Amino acid sequence: MKLISKSSEGLHGEIKIPGDKSISHRALICASISDGTSKISNLQESEDVINTLNSLKQLGIRIYKKNESYFVEGKGFKGLKESENQLYFGNSGTGTRLMSGLLSIQNFSSSLTGDDSLSQRPMKRIIEPLVKMGVNISGSKEDTLPLRITPSEKINGIHYEMPIASAQVKSAILFASLGATGDTKIIEKTKSRDHTERMFEFFGANIRYSDKETILKNTDKFTPQNVEIPGDFSSSAFFIVAALISKNSDITLREVGMNPSRIALLNKLIEMGGDIQVFNNSSFGKEPIADVNVKSSSLKSCEVTSDDVANLIDELPILFVASSFAEGISSFNEIEELKHKESDRLKAMQDGLDKMKVKNFLNGNVFCIEGMGKNYKSPNFLAETYYDHRIAMSFAIAGLNSSSSIEIASPESINTSFPEFIDLGNRLGCNFEVS
Ligand code: S3P
Repeated sequence: MKLISKSSEGLHGEIKIPGDKSISHRALICASISDGTSKISNLQESEDVINTLNSLKQLGIRIYKKNESYFVEGKGFKGLKESENQLYFGNSGTGTRLMSGLLSIQNFSSSLTGDDSLSQRPMKRIIEPLVKMGVNISGSKEDTLPLRITPSEKINGIHYEMPIASAQVKSAILFASLGATGDTKIIEKTKSRDHTERMFEFFGANIRYSDKETILKNTDKFTPQNVEIPGDFSSSAFFIVAALISKNSDITLREVGMNPSRIALLNKLIEMGGDIQVFNNSSFGKEPIADVNVKSSSLKSCEVTSDDVANLIDELPILFVASSFAEGISSFNEIEELKHKESDRLKAMQDGLDKMKVKNFLNGNVFCIEGMGKNYKSPNFLAETYYDHRIAMSFAIAGLNSSSSIEIASPESINTSFPEFIDLGNRLGCNFEVS
């Protein structure tokens, strides 16, 4: 498959963004361990989420689709059944790490694998706290996949100070804590996304959480729920930036997730001078949502501080693109975690920015981009994407402001999180050509 993103005359219209990836994983897993049948609407039907869904089916959970909604027949915290085969999580760190927590409390063994990219990602970050809780879990000698989990005699709650801001690690601990003796308390220096906490609360857990700590106490069951998944803010981010950097644009995105731990990009873009209106505020379960209107804007540079990073980690690649078409030098502090995502995203973006002829450099641990302003047109080039969905979508958006087009290598990776990206983009006025 080939994707060419040609320059565009501007974006218009309104769309509903498909369901949030993080929340979709959590909805499926929490529904599977509740006592009865839950209904999930607007589930993200991406490869990552479908891999989690299939692994839950492999573990004996009945899940089916009827009239656009998914129904999940939950079997309680310890009701999963041993899978004959390894569980395959494709490209998904979230699926792997969250399910590792849950599989830690089952009375059977499991083995978890994934694709080449996932097989290189660090798993020590979950192995270490889970082992402290008494879980029998190990990875390869480099602490990567495959992960092997065998039944443990006793699992204890943990008081854990997070060494890195990671919702995946926090969530692995929280799922394992559902089968632990004693309370769990997790302390975070910077709050990572709190979808697990909100979903646990929605399913009836005894959980308290704030910006600093999360405390989970004696919870022995989840009550089945109707879950409506908000639109994915991270998917929306690509079209928000697209409308800001393209001339004559005015788009509206409906029912977008507005969880405060996810929308740092929105605040940053508004600070940069982005014409963005958030309205129709409401909520789906414990998650806030709103509609978002975005118009073409002249952007100024931004400064991303270490405190901002966790809440815009997935949006850094597209923020780099926005910064390329802004006035002035943007700076990004302590973005080390970017190297441990679906690809080394810092390297992948540096490669592409070089090809866009946008000056960028590392100054100690601060990454800087010299913006070219809103009238800049990128030269035509082939963007390497390292099979990383967010790198592919970021350069596809940069193509809107190219002298004629940017070609995207291995665009199939986009199905990891946003299979509708090309169709929805073209509906808004992007010029994506697939052959
Ligand atoms: C996610 C957490 C983040 C994020 C990922 C989804 C989640 O990873 O990058 O795309 O759903 O919990 P970390 O928690 O490892 O930073």
